[in-house]
Amino acid sequence: MKIAMVGSGYVGLVSGACFADFGHDVICIDKDPAKIESLQAGIMPIYEPGLAELVTGNAKSGRLSFTTDLAAGIAGAAAIFIAVGTPSRRGDGHADLSYVYAVAEEVGQALKNDAVVVTKSTVPVGTGDEVERILTEAAPGVRFAVASNPEFLREGAAIADFKHPDRIVIGTEDEWARGILTEVYRPLFLNKAPILFTSRRTSELIKYAANAFLAVKITFINEMADLCEKVGADVQDVSRGIGMDGRIGSKFLHAGPGYGGSCFPKDTLALLKTAEDYEAPTRIVEAVVAVNDSRKRAMGRKVIEALGGTDAARGKKVAMLGLTFKPNTDDMRDSPSIAIALALADAGIEVAAYDPEGMALAGPLMPEVTMADSTYAAIEGADAVVIVTEWDAFRALDFDRIKRIAKAPVLVDLRNVYNPAEVRAKGFAYSSVGRP
Ligand code: UDX
Repeated sequence: MKIAMVGSGYVGLVSGACFADFGHDVICIDKDPAKIESLQAGIMPIYEPGLAELVTGNAKSGRLSFTTDLAAGIAGAAAIFIAVGTPSRRGDGHADLSYVYAVAEEVGQALKNDAVVVTKSTVPVGTGDEVERILTEAAPGVRFAVASNPEFLREGAAIADFKHPDRIVIGTEDEWARGILTEVYRPLFLNKAPILFTSRRTSELIKYAANAFLAVKITFINEMADLCEKVGADVQDVSRGIGMDGRIGSKFLHAGPGYGGSCFPKDTLALLKTAEDYEAPTRIVEAVVAVNDSRKRAMGRKVIEALGGTDAARGKKVAMLGLTFKPNTDDMRDSPSIAIALALADAGIEVAAYDPEGMALAGPLMPEVTMADSTYAAIEGADAVVIVTEWDAFRALDFDRIKRIAKAPVLVDLRNVYNPAEVRAKGFAYSSVGRP
């Protein structure tokens, strides 16, 4: 089946490459000529493990191609996916749907054959109705249906998540569209991926509800971590203790510096806006957004405390290890590291940082930070080392070397990577999140 993927960002590119790997004939479309040219040359616009091999392999075998020409790209496609960005709109936090609607308009004008237009971008409830209206106006006389098919893949594990999803959600009331999307996903049913058919509006909401619920889980355990610190309990054991309850589940209960990334921050905000518009406020999500926002800066204060408080910390140097919002990505969007670095700079602390993949994108976002060439170059002369992102490269630090090159053996572990007793036994002043 020919599939057109409009938008070759994280979701579009990974989905397109995986569909091609399943044997479909896929064309990825993007209006950015530089991106398309580099994809044609086998250069990936993002860092995602395994993606380069998947893209180049499928391109070589002729199942995956790239173009900037939308009209030519969608010709003959039975399914046209819209996978363009829906960032937070400046000023009010609503999802910015201008890219989605512009694509719908362009698709409508170019559409010559029957096709199902599928929104994969994360879009608020009712967006499918508007896409349908735009297409009806722009493409009279062509048979089409508009379906919703949210994507749940995580950055850093995108290919595995796409190929082995917990579920596939398809929102359409149209039998014909259902048949086509069943064909699109057939290779995954064979892998026993459950498929849930719902109405289009329900499907649109499922994506926001899923992300908001996960954000609630993380924020809940983060607040428990704060409480653990006050009462002398261990949040990791609390996570295990509650996670073993099948009704709660053990995942997404890892306390840390607060969630970031391209999805949770913008999707929780957009959900609040939808809830407000429909006069059905979601107070829990409101609290989550506020708590998570203030948490990032609070992590800066934690570091200042480890340096002996505000007065002692002024003029000292901190090494930040990890800048991306999580490991195995170069994505810096809403990363807690940004707020932490600012809080430290505000307190008159000098910051040097190292990240295995995030330096290029981080640099312009944090001009106050000196970017180091390696982990130990960042640590050289530091009064404290802070683990912000749990990259594997920071899981086996050479503590003897740190003691030699740093000014003081102080480690603030915001991801609870290390065992407190072991690090203290090596002579470090060690603090972490929610552990005695
Ligand atoms: C998320 C959703 O998981 C995915 O289904 C959706 O499609 C897009 O948004 P992603 O943003 O790639 O994926 O990252 P994820 O692994 O979910 O982590 C998000 C943030 O939560 C990160 O900042 C991470 O560090 C944080 N997190 C996650 C925690 O602090 N604790 C946890 O237990 C889990």
